[in-house]
Amino acid sequence: MAGTSTPLTQLQKLARRSTAVSVRNVSRACASQNRNSKTDQPKDFIRPNKLAYSGMRSSSVVHDYSLAKEKSRPVVSFYNQTAIDAAATKPSVRLTPATLLYTGKSPDGNHLLRSAQYLHKELPVRVAHRIAEFRGLPFIVGCNPTILQVHELYIRAFHMLSEFPQVTDRDTELRYCRLVKGLLDDHKDIVTHLAEGFRESKKHIKDENLIHHFLNRTLTSRLGIRMLAEHHLSLHQDMNDFIGIICTKMSLRKVIEKWADFAREQCEMRYGFTPRVRINGHTGATFPYILQPLDYMLPELIKNALRATVESHLDTPHNLPDVVITIANSDMDFVIRISDRGGGISHSHVNKVFLYHFTTAQDSVDPRVTGGTFGALTNTNNGPTAGPFCGFGFGLPVSKAYAEYLGGSLVLQTMHGYGTDLYLRLRHIDGRHESFRI
Ligand SMILES: Nc1ncnc2c1ncn2[C@@H]1O[C@H](COP(=O)(O)OP(=O)(O)OP(=O)(O)O)[C@@H](O)[C@H]1O
Ligand SMILES: [Mg+2]
Repeated sequence: MAGTSTPLTQLQKLARRSTAVSVRNVSRACASQNRNSKTDQPKDFIRPNKLAYSGMRSSSVVHDYSLAKEKSRPVVSFYNQTAIDAAATKPSVRLTPATLLYTGKSPDGNHLLRSAQYLHKELPVRVAHRIAEFRGLPFIVGCNPTILQVHELYIRAFHMLSEFPQVTDRDTELRYCRLVKGLLDDHKDIVTHLAEGFRESKKHIKDENLIHHFLNRTLTSRLGIRMLAEHHLSLHQDMNDFIGIICTKMSLRKVIEKWADFAREQCEMRYGFTPRVRINGHTGATFPYILQPLDYMLPELIKNALRATVESHLDTPHNLPDVVITIANSDMDFVIRISDRGGGISHSHVNKVFLYHFTTAQDSVDPRVTGGTFGALTNTNNGPTAGPFCGFGFGLPVSKAYAEYLGGSLVLQTMHGYGTDLYLRLRHIDGRHESFRI
């Protein structure tokens, strides 16, 4: 799998390295500044979005300029360890999807204010927990420029979210939405960056377990933060069959079909062939659910099944066995089984497939898999969620972490030499049974 983002120049790397040290030492260096942060700020300190917050006359242009200016500031200029530490000691208040569903609409429109007020309190706490975890990484790993870049994104987000004034009226709420939307955009590539950063620092990692749990917590917490933030933003849109992010009548078959088509297209582009995907079982089932986690897990799991099928039938590419997806819906949960006849997983690999960075994507030397020189140039992987076919070793571990975060499981049964069945089991969120909390 090739590099995932714009390569850092040597100079940027050096700059980042120096910031790495400064972020880590800055709590001491800035301690006194933080204590007097209101009076003792550098001259060019502009309180975040000061203009935009200052009243009804502020335009979005001013606000956007203010946000852009805020983003260009070096992270050390607002690093406030005391505030981060204080927020990190607070517990996060997690909501059930049923609560989101039932508080997602009110005739007077007050649900928007209440939802923004909840986020205003909750997001800085969750972000502070993440920052505390970054600080707990082994020093040499935390200094990796790519990991540091993510750490800085969280520090910046904490600063912007915690400095935002209380949300008491509609105008402030709209500005808060713009801030949240901007942060969602800034953080969209974090999974790729973490995958890249930890791969780069692999040789320094003594305790694989520690990193595994760090990634599980960081990625699931990120999923939770994004679901809450997107839920709030979606409350502004009046879409049929949706309350915020909750699709009240989700047809699981349609969601699977969409991602099967996507994965097949990718497979075709990668190999020139693709198996068909058949869906059976409870194909008529509709129920309330949240699309976001499915939108990550389904393409990853289907891509794996397609890839295994093609790579194990290189001599008969016009006669590929179907991948069969079965839906089983019950009162408490629903199961998606993805069955392929892609040759299964060898005994020596089966215990590793749920580990971050375990991949066999580079193992094959067959030009029909690598695509030869031309394929090597065109099949570069741009990241674990960016659509390329395989290669980070993130698809299975992230999907398993998400499934467990959602109160479910991801289990694999494989028959080496024949094929693999993957069972994704998820809990319903209709409030009739105990559910997970976001
Ligand atoms: N259905 C399957 N049949 C056979 N092997 C599989 C299957 N699914 C996963 N694997 C094996 O498990 C490994 C890890 O899968 P995972 O999805 O985590 O990473 P990947 O596909 O290599 O890269 P990516 O991060 O792009 O998903 C794969 O490289 C492959 O060797
Ligand atoms: Mg994969």
